[in-house]
Amino acid sequence: MINETVKYIQKKIKDYKPQIGIILGSGLGDFANDFEPVQTISYADIPGFEKSTVIGHKGQLVFTKIKNKNTVIMQGRYHFYEGYNISKIVYPTKVMRKLGVEHLIITNAAGSVNKDYKAGDLMLIKDHINLMGVNPLVGENDSTLGDRFPDMSEVYKKDLIEMAEKKAKEIGLTVHKGVYAAMSGPSYETPAEINMLRVMGADAVGMSTVPEALVANYCGMDVLGISCITNSAAGVHPSRLSHIEVVETANKVKGMFKELLLKVIEEI
Ligand code: HPA
Repeated sequence: MINETVKYIQKKIKDYKPQIGIILGSGLGDFANDFEPVQTISYADIPGFEKSTVIGHKGQLVFTKIKNKNTVIMQGRYHFYEGYNISKIVYPTKVMRKLGVEHLIITNAAGSVNKDYKAGDLMLIKDHINLMGVNPLVGENDSTLGDRFPDMSEVYKKDLIEMAEKKAKEIGLTVHKGVYAAMSGPSYETPAEINMLRVMGADAVGMSTVPEALVANYCGMDVLGISCITNSAAGVHPSRLSHIEVVETANKVKGMFKELLLKVIEEI
């Protein structure tokens, strides 16, 4: 199937070869609209892809040059809580690799577990904890992509984190570096679960990113993960959590987020 998908896309993009992949999280999808696309392909039209259903997620691949780099942007992603098999969630990541992508920038909206973080902050992901209850590599191994037992000691590349931190400083932005915990969702966490995550060493919590990062690492891509802290996680403040709030905060910070992304892409 994957070769059929890759062939379908290559027919549409001709000799364009993306080097950098970007996955845009909740409320951050706008980033893709600012660049003249070389080609845009709706997920619904791509063999092997599923339709994306969540509000704030568009569901298309945008092939576009940014800062003279060939990129492919996933405008909207699949989430485990939508009910897809985990293999469907990481399918586009594998396809990006087959198309030639070497660097994958993964973004998301996340709640803060670390009490020093506040809504509107950005966090560079230095590591993750997979609490989704599934591993996307379970099943037959495709040795054209990676090893059966991949090493996971540096999923989020240190040199990319350092570079992104430097670029953030240049534009006067302070970013955190922290551990992202992935839950399956779609319910937000209970205060007790947030306490558990804090004890485990997590700084932020979300419902995405880990499957894609895990697979990207497996198939040899360098990953940079950026979380947009959209809210304090449950129990940190008395207010209730809502997806609207998450999207609204992501919308508020998207200007500086975009600026950082541009700087990072330029430097890769
Ligand atoms: N929990 C889980 N996922 C999230 C959150 C949260 O608080 N905010 C944004 N995505």
